[in-house]
Amino acid sequence: MSQADHQHHSVKTERLQIQDLVNLCAASDPKLQVSSVGSDVIQGLTQTPKTLPPQYFYDDRGSILFEQICELPEYYPTRTEASILRHYASEITGITGACELVELGSGSSTKTRLLLDAYAAHAYPLRYVPIDVSAGILESSAKQLLLDYPSLEIQGLVGTYELALQQLTPTELPTRMIVFLGSTLGNFKPQECDVFFSQIQSALKVGEYFLLGVDLQKPTSLLEDAYNDSQGVTAEFNLNMLKHLNQRFEGNFDTQLFEHWAFYNEPLNQIEMHLRCLKAHTVRLEALDLTVKFEAGETIMTEISRKFDLDVMQQELQAKGLTSRKVWTDPKQWFGLILCQL
Ligand code: AVI
Repeated sequence: MSQADHQHHSVKTERLQIQDLVNLCAASDPKLQVSSVGSDVIQGLTQTPKTLPPQYFYDDRGSILFEQICELPEYYPTRTEASILRHYASEITGITGACELVELGSGSSTKTRLLLDAYAAHAYPLRYVPIDVSAGILESSAKQLLLDYPSLEIQGLVGTYELALQQLTPTELPTRMIVFLGSTLGNFKPQECDVFFSQIQSALKVGEYFLLGVDLQKPTSLLEDAYNDSQGVTAEFNLNMLKHLNQRFEGNFDTQLFEHWAFYNEPLNQIEMHLRCLKAHTVRLEALDLTVKFEAGETIMTEISRKFDLDVMQQELQAKGLTSRKVWTDPKQWFGLILCQL
């Protein structure tokens, strides 16, 4: 491997290729990258009310905490979506036929295995394109998958969804399916969701598929329990964002001076996660040359998690030319999977 390959975390073996789009872009235009790093933090912390972008949850510790959240008894989305996939993967893969699987936010690729198993059971060739911003988790999951699926070929892309969707090369298989699981769509504001669907539409060719997992509307108490777990893992996940900012931008946030606050905003059908300041104080983020004043009781919104209606979602997809082919849900109708075709 050349030195440049090391720098860009590119990996290439016969069945595995990983391309680091983030560092490739930084290399071609370093000024642009450096000047824009952290501008979202400055913007969020200087507005009223204060906000922080949810992508700052996911440093190494945050990714581990998120994996723990997925196992919590109160956090139903992961296991409910997995149960739908377990029931219907064979039907989904039967509809698409032999197909390249592209996954946005692939993470540990746990649920993807259910689809890969189903393609393997049909004796279809296995080709997987995981896309994730974290090079570490992408590489380790890809290597494990190669061991478990001897005929699988992987072309991983490290980068944002937007960059990666623009970089997809034509598939050698008869068709392609982009999958976006876990209701990560719920973390997008309506406007961002609209832009995202347009990016999906541009990335697909006519006849190709999009499989979307969405968390559905349900009683407030169930939702609030899922984001206020009894073991306090979600609270730690939320507070970890401040530790991540400290490390990333030479900050001095004291996590003792903030508390986790999550509630369901019924009119907007969204969980809101905030960090509430317990005592008036000032925080400094040296690397951003930013000083922020906090009042007691003031909050920083760190995440929205929207809960959807299946009919409305199908209409929104249809407005982007993504026609719903079939929808699956669980017996309690807590979570939905929508298979669309362009
Ligand atoms: C990643 N995302 C779909 C999760 C959610 O439920 O919105 C993130 C999360 N936040 C708190 N718990 C889990």
